[in-house]
Amino acid sequence: MGRIALIGNGWHPTLFREEVRALLGPVDTIHPRIVLAESKASVLERISRASLIESAIDSFCSIRGGRVTIDEIASQIGEWAESNIPEGTFAVRARRIGQGVGNISRREIEEKTGAIISDGTRRVDLESPEFEIVVILAGPEDTSSHWDDEEAGESVLWGIRDDLSNGSYIGISPTERPFFKPVTLDPRLARLMVSLSYRGETPSMVVDPFCGTGGIAIESSMTGIKVLASDLDSRMVEGTRTNLEWANGAGDFTVKQLSAEMIHQKWGPVSGCSFVFDPPYGRNAWTSEDGLDLFISTLSSAKEMCPDGTVCTMLPCSPKSVEGPVSEELEVMGAKWGHLKTRIQQTGWEVIVNCPVRVHRSLSRLVVTCHPAD
Ligand SMILES: C[S@@+](CC[C@H](N)C(=O)[O-])C[C@H]1O[C@@H](n2cnc3c(N)ncnc32)[C@H](O)[C@@H]1O
Repeated sequence: MGRIALIGNGWHPTLFREEVRALLGPVDTIHPRIVLAESKASVLERISRASLIESAIDSFCSIRGGRVTIDEIASQIGEWAESNIPEGTFAVRARRIGQGVGNISRREIEEKTGAIISDGTRRVDLESPEFEIVVILAGPEDTSSHWDDEEAGESVLWGIRDDLSNGSYIGISPTERPFFKPVTLDPRLARLMVSLSYRGETPSMVVDPFCGTGGIAIESSMTGIKVLASDLDSRMVEGTRTNLEWANGAGDFTVKQLSAEMIHQKWGPVSGCSFVFDPPYGRNAWTSEDGLDLFISTLSSAKEMCPDGTVCTMLPCSPKSVEGPVSEELEVMGAKWGHLKTRIQQTGWEVIVNCPVRVHRSLSRLVVTCHPAD
């Protein structure tokens, strides 16, 4: 069993790493946007369902950047290719992450390594190569709108491109769906939340008690996961049903009209599910407690419905949250985060991940995942 290198989307490196952990298990981080994970056959297919994994690289090798020269890199890749690139056609594709490594250009590295590797049996074919050699020149990030505790040094990583990942997920714009409202969650965020709710196993089903237009339900169904969706508003229930039929995902779905605190009574007990939701909140978002009690009673109902489940949700919080580590004083849904965490704990859930996401200049959202506290 080998390892696989995964390259993350630059939008939110911290959440990229959390997504990989949730989907594949423990990771080693060599750069905020490059992690190494075990390539267990049983979980690899999950890479293709991810939101923030841009690419996956097999048979990889890496070196620290620093004062490394282009000739040293090209010669190391040449040696590696001797035992890793079989006969046939290949292309070298290099890319920079952040500021890259020194002033080494993509073009130079592609040309030099291509020339070293090609011989009588291995030929460059840029159109349809049998193997794609990816070279990542990673350096410090230029700018990031999200604080990250992982330091970015210079590293060079290369290997063979794995077809499991075709770039980070975009999805179809929600305005193309038959039922659209501005509350609809961006497909990338909805897909990310579904991923973050994995815990070793693929969830037995995704339960969204505040389904709205079905943003989360659609992503679950499209990744083959069964969905139980509900909303208090009958127009949303009808709209989610229409959207799910239109999306035609592989996961079965049932949509009901009911209040979120009633899910344990109306759906009945289940095992191994994920509760993934985006709860309603007041007009003054992060400064108002509107919605807080409903959120807490929904968590209690969820714990009763599925004691061994997981939760992934997103709560409005102060826009300053993205500038540094999450503090106990951070204002989330009108409460201090330290206090809210205690209330969450009292419902039987333990916060595992809390990571702010910038929505716009005056609003951020705290992505929160929870596992059973016991
Ligand atoms: C922020 S929206 C969810 C948006 C959804 N994620 C989407 O992609 O369209 C919150 C939803 O909660 C619903 N809601 C409000 N109070 C509720 C309650 N007590 N029980 C269930 N749903 C409720 C609203 O009707 C609204 O559709």
